Order: sequence, then structure tokens, then C-alpha cells
Amino acid sequence: MDRLVIKGGVPLDGAIEVSGAKNAALPLMAVSLLSAEPLELRNVPDVADVGSMWRLLQVLGAEARHLAGSPGGLVLHCPAVLDRKAPYDIVRRMRASVLVLGPLLAREGEAEVSLPGGCAIGTRPIDLHLAGFERLGAEIDLSGGYVRARAPNGLKGAEIRLSQPSVGATENLMMAATLADGETVIVGAAREPEIVDLAHCLNAMGAKVEGAGTARIRVEGVPRLGAATHRVLPDRIEAGTYAMAAAITGGRLHLKHARLDLLGAVRDKLLEAGVRLDQAEDGFTADGSAGLQGVDAMTHPFPGFATDLQAQFMALMTVARGASMITETIFENRFMHVPELARLGARIVVQGNSAMIRGVDSLRGAPVMATDLRASVSLVLAALAAEGESEVNRIYHLDRGYEGLEKKLVAVGARIERVS
Ligand code: EPZ
Repeated sequence: MDRLVIKGGVPLDGAIEVSGAKNAALPLMAVSLLSAEPLELRNVPDVADVGSMWRLLQVLGAEARHLAGSPGGLVLHCPAVLDRKAPYDIVRRMRASVLVLGPLLAREGEAEVSLPGGCAIGTRPIDLHLAGFERLGAEIDLSGGYVRARAPNGLKGAEIRLSQPSVGATENLMMAATLADGETVIVGAAREPEIVDLAHCLNAMGAKVEGAGTARIRVEGVPRLGAATHRVLPDRIEAGTYAMAAAITGGRLHLKHARLDLLGAVRDKLLEAGVRLDQAEDGFTADGSAGLQGVDAMTHPFPGFATDLQAQFMALMTVARGASMITETIFENRFMHVPELARLGARIVVQGNSAMIRGVDSLRGAPVMATDLRASVSLVLAALAAEGESEVNRIYHLDRGYEGLEKKLVAVGARIERVS
């Protein structure tokens, strides 16, 4: 099992190239099932979850190949769906596999996808996805841990009201609606930038999607989708993570291709905490040299404070001046980084879905264990700030969503080494 050995205490300084967004690339790859023509994607991050989606799409009948001479370039082509079943052993490893359900149902009128099962951060049901497909005229039945969705006469446009702005449900239903007969309106849609990116790609293929990025998305169904080339937008969560790496080490990083407006409320909270943020043409700079002030934060759907940056922000607050309260409103169990941060000397008390943090002068290195993607990177941030040596174990979690993490950090001064 790989682990990272980190010697903390070095203020990071330099520039980091932000990769394409994992959470945009995954639905964008699923889009290839919607058309018989090839989909060319650029700036796809080289992370484990992209590999899992690649394998799943091949099982379903898509050809996938790297674009020669263009790192992050990928061509996905599904002239015919060969299998309509997404098997358990792939879906259990990556919940985003459920995003093939909408495209398969729209293209083939039938799909069978293993229920994703829970994961470390919560049960993560897909009831909103399924209720939406039923609104579009699909028959849904669950048996043997699989969802079977059938629409033998095709999908019919309808109004769908989401009781909570689920990112995955919005993406799944938006994709399915592009080939439905008539108009679909998704009310209460999620507004994440990855949804806007997905709509741009669908429209480039001939779909008619309006309102992505707002809570009301309208889709006019079309008979088929064609070919397209699409560049995946930069990963705002990766950018936010490295901005916090600069802040927690008292350093300064320029994050290339990153945009502050895609950070939503995280931008405001970093400013409140004393981090200097400056947007330039080719990215933004985060400067933590003025020290950190404790700030309260509560996660919300975009443009609120991103739940995917909650663990990283908590690491930051462990060495800020004063106290802070962090409340997680999206997932029911996303505080697994707390006991591990405590091993590094952090002072955190959890009460329900809130954590009270009291800043300490410094953390001290120790062996810690990763539990999920974003919790593991929060431990890396804390280790970068801690005095002495830390060891982060089970870093396969990190490899799911961060392309070349240790290489990028070494290049800006971090003393970090991957040990097998
Ligand atoms: C996406 O997951 C992201 N994953 C997550 O990032 C992110 O944390 C999440 O959105 C929220 O922003 C990808 O985009 C691949 P949701 P998703 O549906 O779509 C409940 C990471 O670290 N819910 O918006 O699964 C659900 O249980 C990952 O990169 C239902 O109850 O998130 C959760 O509590 C982690 N029923 C809340 O809604 C449903 O049918 C938000 O889930 C669907 C969701």
C-alpha cells in the first residue's frame, strides 16, 4: 500500500497547473453513450475514477482511446451499445457509474445499473434520479441490488421537481432529457459549474439545453446527438485545495487556469480568514503569508461553500487564530478526518453535524490514515504545516481525484515523498 511521507513546515511558493475537473469529466464521459458519433474530450485528468469510468464505458460498448500528442485528450465512440448492464463490481468502486443510467435509458430505452451502495461519507441514495426517470415515462424496478429502467416507447419530456439540488440527479436527468420526446423542465436543479460544462458539451452535440447553472433547466428533446469536441473545465476543488495548501503553510501559490468565481462562498471564507486572493488572466494567486483567522463555515450546494472543500478548510482552521465552527449540511458522515487531524495535535470537538475547532500554534507530525478522497487531502495539508514528519496511509483514496499530487507539491517546495 502506497503512503506519503511528508516533512512539514515549509511555506509553499510557486505555480501549480490545475487539471481538468474530475467531477466534470465523469458525466462528460458518460455522454458518449448518448450518440453514435465520436466524442472528443480534452483536459481530462489522469485520475483513478476516470480509469473506472473508461472501463465501464468499454463494457457497455464504447471504444475509448487516448488522443496522440495531447495529454488529457480522449476519444470515446459508442456506435452501438453492446451491453445495457453496469455491473456491481465496477459501480461499487465508483458511485458516479450511476451516471450511465440516463444516457443508456435515453439511447436504448432500457438500462440496468447496480445500486451504488453507500460509501464512506454517507448512504448516498439515488431516489431523486429514479423518481425523475419515472416522470420521463420510464418504468423502474429494483431487484437483486440492481435498478432496471425501461422506456420501450422512448422517454417523454415532463416537468421534474427535485426536492434537493442533487448534482448527480440533475446531470443524469439533463442527459436523458436531451433525447426525450418534447420539453423537459428540471425545477430545483443543482447549479454547480460542472453542470454548466456538461450542458455546453451536450449543446455542442446538437442538444437544446437552456438554464444550466440556474435552478431551472429547460431541455427540448431532439431525435439524436452528433459528434463534438469539448475541453473539460478546470477543477475548482483541486484549485481550492491548493489555495488552502498555500494558506496553511503561510506560502503563496499561483493556480494556473483556476477561476475564483468557481469557488463560490469558499472564496469569501478564505478572504475572511485572511488569505489574499488575486485573479489574473491565467489563473489566481493565493497568499497566506499574513496569517490565518478562525472563521465559521457551513456547506451548501453551489454557489454556497462546497462540501468537497470542507475537510481541507477544517485543516486550515486547526492552525488559525481563535475558534471556528464548521457545519456539514450535505452528507451525514463527512467528519472522518477529525480523529486523524487530532492525531496531529488539532483541537476539534464534533457535535452532530458541526465541528468546533480551536486553533493551535502548530501541529506536530504523526502517522495518519486516509478514509475518503477529500479527507485524505486534508491530512496532506495538515502534514505540510505540521512540525516534523508525518505519514499519510491508504493514499489510493487520493489517487481517485488528484492528478500528480505529490509531483505538483514538490515543485513548489513541499518535502513529500511517495513510498510503496
Ligand atoms: C457529486 O456527488 C460529487 N461527485 C461529489 O463529489 C460532491 O460531494 C456532491 O456532488 C455534492 O456537491 C461527482 O460529481 C462525481 P448529490 P453526488 O447527488 O452527485 C443526497 C468528490 O469528493 N441525495 O448532490 O452523488 C445525497 O445522499 C465527490 O469529488 C439523495 O438523497 O451528490 C447527498 O446527501 C464526493 N438522493 C446529497 O443529496 C439522490 O437521489 C447531495 O448528493 C441523490 C442525492
